[in-house]
Amino acid sequence: MSTKKIGWIGLGNMGIPISQQLIKAGYPVTVYNRSKEKEASLKATGAGIAASPKELIQQTDVVFIMVSNDEAISEIFNGDAGLLSAKTTGKTIINMSTVSPGISKEMAALCKEQGNHYLDAPVSGSVKQAEEGQLVIMVGGEENIFEQAKPVLEKLGKLALLVGGNGAGNTAKLAINTLLGFHAQGLAEAIVFAQQHHIKTEDMLNIINNSALGNVFAKIKGDAIIKDNYQAAFALKHIAKDLRLAKTEGLNSPLAKVAYQTFQEAEAEYGNEDIIAIIKQISK
Ligand SMILES: NC(=O)c1ccc[n+]([C@@H]2O[C@H](COP(=O)([O-])OP(=O)(O)OC[C@H]3O[C@@H](n4cnc5c(N)ncnc54)[C@H](OP(=O)(O)O)[C@@H]3O)[C@@H](O)[C@H]2O)c1
Repeated sequence: MSTKKIGWIGLGNMGIPISQQLIKAGYPVTVYNRSKEKEASLKATGAGIAASPKELIQQTDVVFIMVSNDEAISEIFNGDAGLLSAKTTGKTIINMSTVSPGISKEMAALCKEQGNHYLDAPVSGSVKQAEEGQLVIMVGGEENIFEQAKPVLEKLGKLALLVGGNGAGNTAKLAINTLLGFHAQGLAEAIVFAQQHHIKTEDMLNIINNSALGNVFAKIKGDAIIKDNYQAAFALKHIAKDLRLAKTEGLNSPLAKVAYQTFQEAEAEYGNEDIIAIIKQISK
């Protein structure tokens, strides 16, 4: 796949560093983003620019997508100048967005009808892991298409694992993000409890990070809490969406119910801030 031309759709917090990683790895990359001003930084690092998803797929062999949600995916595939309107054959479309298993199955079927291939390949890890090519990529799709895509996926992540047919990658992602919701809420609740009993946040985080419960998430988000910096690396509205999707898929366990409720309640006020802004909701 190294000589193939790559297309990239979606230049949000994740799309920018991941597509840049592909450029660094030496792939010819063409990008498309709905808001055109975000394309400038990619153009400056050597990417081509396409006017629409249709134009992008016509010019490339493999198209990656990293956008917000199911609605965005529908627009990118089915819009007037969407991917399917190009009526191409033999292309591979790799959807890294966190979306429902249902939309992946639907888009995979539409791709197959045209003679194209689809992999759902959502990622675990945030901006830092994207910048370092250290994402964890969980894939749903056909094994031979996964094997063809694996060399390029391995430029982006430390693990690329096929977990089942189309939609299975999305299901695995909803499972790990449910755990992420628990971690964020749990960290916030522990810190708020300590604060209420006059234990310094720095001291509490020092204890957590040196204990068996210390992890990369607690370290990065703990630093953000101390700096009072809630600028989104992973927007709270996205974890609210993921818990909604998991609920729709039938997740109704005790912690999942509570996390669902907490993040839905926080979304209106803190949706555009980082996931760890949940601490502001908890401390109300
Ligand atoms: N950030 C993280 O840490 C992280 C980690 C793992 C997975 N994810 C998942 O990865 C996906 C992207 O996350 P992100 O943080 O990069 O999101 P983001 O910063 O909010 O960016 C969203 C991207 O989707 C595009 N988009 C939204 N609606 C669209 C539509 N209707 N048509 C076309 N494009 C549309 C946006 O285009 P505009 O620029 O025009 O708005 C933008 O490029 C989400 O599914 C998220 O859950 C995020």
